Amino acid sequence: MKLNQSNIKKAKNYLDKDYCIGIPTETVYGLAGNAYSNIAVKNIFKLKNRPRNNPLIVHYLDINMLKRDCVINDSFKKLYKKFSPGPITYILKLKNNSRISKYATNNNDCLAIRFPKHKIFKNLLKKLKYPLAAPSANISTKLSSVQASDVKEEFGSKIKYVLDGGKCAIGLESTIINLNGKPSVLRLGGLDISKIKAILKKKINININPHKKVSPGQSKLHYSPGIPLRINIKKARKDEAFLLIKKKKIASNNHYYLSKKNNLDEAAKNLYSCLRKIKNKGYRSIAVEKISNKGIGKAINDRLHRASKY
Ligand code: TXA
Ligand code: MG
Repeated sequence: MKLNQSNIKKAKNYLDKDYCIGIPTETVYGLAGNAYSNIAVKNIFKLKNRPRNNPLIVHYLDINMLKRDCVINDSFKKLYKKFSPGPITYILKLKNNSRISKYATNNNDCLAIRFPKHKIFKNLLKKLKYPLAAPSANISTKLSSVQASDVKEEFGSKIKYVLDGGKCAIGLESTIINLNGKPSVLRLGGLDISKIKAILKKKINININPHKKVSPGQSKLHYSPGIPLRINIKKARKDEAFLLIKKKKIASNNHYYLSKKNNLDEAAKNLYSCLRKIKNKGYRSIAVEKISNKGIGKAINDRLHRASKY
């Protein structure tokens, strides 16, 4: 997707006036607003119908921009060097004099931060005097958006503008790691945790379990297409959509494919848009084939598992 400076200017104008807009990232689209503005941040919660106690991720261009607001530690420096910009979110301590809206953190002293890789987002951040709070651009508990049309479907005329950056390259949200104290993963996502382990060279706690919830985003029902979804299914009923990891020789009208060749990265990229398509076709339920639990397959299965709690 080409950079279009007049669209970026338009986005900046809305953001400078405290409006929330849709913006592309390499993971999923975000519903963005000025993270220093109480008005913009409060509006993000309202538009998403998001509980006030579920804090937001704030997006920065680089570590220099971050230093104003957060305390930097060694683990962060190592991971930042290797993986940012990219699909990893860090939880860090806020500085006492940080300007981040207290609504973004629910008055907490920690902040989730990320450095997006999408060139349109980076270009926009370069022009702003503030970082962007941006949760996924969807109504709370529903499917995240992976293209501009999804964001319009979620919010319609309630938001002024969506910056179109094409379809998201990764298609699943970032991996979240808490770097206060012992590193602990709070959400599986676009970056495989084995890669994080290799850099930190120490044990990492995995804390993604909904009944030991640390972050509200770990709640059981999430990423839901809004209809029942069954996982690890060998044979679907005729009246439900069947979501498969690769093309079957004998195709059927109710078959939908995540990948042409059983490729997990391609499947991740297509997951939310396939689920959205199925829902919009009017199906009342979805059956999903078993998906390999390797690499990004773990994050795919995490999302499907939560969606199946509908
Ligand atoms: O890929 C992504 O991370 C996308 C793009 C737009 O950057 N953003 C995203 O944001 O997925 P959201 O709000 O949908 O998910 C953020 C998650 C939530 O589960 C929230 O509970 C958790 O991060 N979170 C935010 N701040 C936190 C904190 N201080 N401590 C623990 N969890 C936190
Ligand atoms: Mg979300």
